[in-house]
Amino acid sequence: MALLGRGFGHKPALILVALLALGFSAWLLYGVRTSLRGTVLADGAPLAGAVVRIQGSADYTITDQHGTFTLTVPLLDNFAHVTASAPGFYIAAAAGAPPNPITLTLLPHPTEDNPDYAFISPILDRENEAACARCHAHRSETVRAADEPAPLPVDEWLLDAHAQSAVNSRFLSLYNGTTLDGTRGDLTAYQFDSALGIDIPTAPTSGQGDVGFRLDFPDSAGSCAACHVPILALEHGHNADPNTAAGVAREGVTCDFCHKISGISLGADGLPVPDLPGVFSLTFLRPSHDEQVFMGPFDDTPGDDIYLPLQSESQFCAACHTGSFWGVSIYNSFGEWLDSPYSDPISGQTCQDCHMPRRGTTTFVDLPPDVTQFVPVRDPQTIFSHLMPGAADEALLATAAAITLDGTRSSEQVRVTVEVTNTGTGHHLPTDNPLRQVILLVEAHDADGNPLTLLDGARIPAWGGIGDPAQGYYAGLPGVLYAKILADVYTGETPTAAYWRQTSLVSDNRIAAFATDTSTYQFRLPANAGSVTLTARLILRRAFIELMAEKGWDTPDLLIAQETITVP
Ligand code: HEC
Ligand code: HEC
Ligand code: HEC
Ligand code: HEC
Ligand code: HEC
Repeated sequence: MALLGRGFGHKPALILVALLALGFSAWLLYGVRTSLRGTVLADGAPLAGAVVRIQGSADYTITDQHGTFTLTVPLLDNFAHVTASAPGFYIAAAAGAPPNPITLTLLPHPTEDNPDYAFISPILDRENEAACARCHAHRSETVRAADEPAPLPVDEWLLDAHAQSAVNSRFLSLYNGTTLDGTRGDLTAYQFDSALGIDIPTAPTSGQGDVGFRLDFPDSAGSCAACHVPILALEHGHNADPNTAAGVAREGVTCDFCHKISGISLGADGLPVPDLPGVFSLTFLRPSHDEQVFMGPFDDTPGDDIYLPLQSESQFCAACHTGSFWGVSIYNSFGEWLDSPYSDPISGQTCQDCHMPRRGTTTFVDLPPDVTQFVPVRDPQTIFSHLMPGAADEALLATAAAITLDGTRSSEQVRVTVEVTNTGTGHHLPTDNPLRQVILLVEAHDADGNPLTLLDGARIPAWGGIGDPAQGYYAGLPGVLYAKILADVYTGETPTAAYWRQTSLVSDNRIAAFATDTSTYQFRLPANAGSVTLTARLILRRAFIELMAEKGWDTPDLLIAQETITVP
């Protein structure tokens, strides 16, 4: 190193000046722009209204009534990759060198859905030419910069709950009425109710074994697969039994499934029709033999790709994230989002904005050597993550809510006010599956660390768990449990986890987007208590603790936020 340094003497400075001059002139030249002209044809005739752009660039132009366009390109780009897109056609590409005009020919894409199409697994058969992992997964032999995130769509999706939705053991154990180790509960007993003229369940689900859809309805497959095992539901409609899922259907909500969705039917209220959960509200464009289509958010990816604006809208997620049973809203993150300021098209945020955060990479492919397709360097703002973080993601949870704590003391009491604000959740907190709860725990301690006694104020209800607080059974403790509480219409069981039965809404104190819940507490202050420490913790619990104990689910509670103050 030292030798080298001496040998080069003052040369590095000269080289630097030369490089700068070169760079500057290149930059000057780059500033000089030229025009690239061309025509877009479809069905042998010029096509007006097609979107034309340099592949990967944000600038675009639209063809005029003669199907012609003019793009401005830097003079130095002696070769430009141009794409054209219009509804009803595959995206087309051509390479052009100004001043020669170019022609792009759009080919119509299929418009009839083919129900016999066999979905492609991203991973099951990596040798398959069409397996997404061939091109959309990180290849171990690819050298990448240390600061560049490696995961591509397939690597990320493998870690996403959608990839597990058909085999999620909590789902299957609630569906089948088993514990995690497979012990099946008793079938539900029904009795004829002469006043109602129907058979009604005779006993609550808890305390009589396990709760489960198939214990209530042993002969019906139910509609659970419509969202959890969608490929099976597409094949077997209302007879799709999740236990029979095999092959690509076991991949749950998989790549090829989402990228074959072509539309969603919504009611006049903007929500999916209640009787049509999941796949029953969606339309698909599955190609026939020898054809392929991928619907995606880009209009400049030539080949078998089709631009679908719906991919970047919350409505894309609505069919499975809205759902009711017997007219009672059960899942509703989409509806809650729609009712919130987040659905404002200008100032709001989509599901994708929060759940598919920009990954910060400039590409979403890593092509094998035998695929020589041109791939542009893309704006990282246009590439979305397939990790789909949710309620199990601590980083996302940290953005969900904030706590403020206020305490004042008199000679005998400490009065505490706790505000919980939904600061970053684009819907209610908690949302979707009604098993979820968010629990606020409020504690007061004197200077010696002794807990103070609650005289008056909010307390955790029975469904926070009756038992040892050290084990997570919080009933009776100072605090609030935020949840949607449903009662079984016939047995009265409250809360019921059997939300596929006829239920009624008892209460819903979940916190809507940007809303604040305020609770107050008065703790007894012993003489000479010294300074008082107040702590508020907000945690997310995946399911009611008694259900978890019964089922053997051991998913730990997760911390969302914590605040501590001292009242001197
Ligand atoms: C739950 C549905 C869903 C699943 C499953 C899914 N995608 Fe996507 N994908 C989307 C949506 C929605 C977008 C567009 C996001 C946007 O633009 O707002 C997208 C975007 C893409 C893009 C464009 C680049 C990017 O990342 O933004 C590619 C490529 C892609 N997906 C491939 C895949 C592959 C490969 C898989 C499986 C490993 C997969 N997708 C699984 C919904 C899905
Ligand atoms: C075909 C139905 C379907 C579609 C379409 C769908 N989802 Fe889901 N989603 C599910 C199911 C089922 C689960 C539960 C999976 C599980 O936990 O087993 C889920 C879970 C989730 C979770 C929780 C993940 C976690 O780690 O807990 C998030 C977040 C989510 N979806 C967001 C989205 C977004 C955003 C879209 C649209 C881009 C979308 N989903 C489209 C069915 C769907
Ligand atoms: C309208 C679509 C839809 C239908 C129908 C549906 N689910 Fe779900 N389910 C979801 C979504 C979306 C999630 C994830 C939401 C969340 O994380 O809160 C989910 C989550 C769950 C979970 C929680 C999984 C976990 O890991 O915590 C269970 C259990 C479950 N569903 C069981 C069922 C059963 C049983 C049925 C049928 C009786 C059913 N679901 C019907 C969409 C649906
Ligand atoms: C042979 C390689 C290859 C395979 C296999 C492959 N893709 Fe792609 N895919 C690409 C390339 C290349 C692009 C465009 C990259 C670019 O322009 O930045 C792309 C783009 C996409 C897009 C974006 C389309 C748009 O218009 O927004 C989606 C979605 C997509 N692929 C999904 C899939 C899915 C799902 C699979 C598996 C079923 C798959 N791809 C298999 C190479 C492949
Ligand atoms: C402003 C950001 C934001 C937007 C927009 C947003 N979410 Fe969320 N979402 C969150 C946060 C934060 C959480 C974690 C807290 C929670 O579970 O409620 C979450 C959690 C979830 C979960 C996991 C629930 C569970 O208990 O497993 C699902 C499912 C979900 N969101 C679906 C959606 C859907 C569908 C949309 C669009 C209709 C959407 N989200 C829009 C921020 C957002």
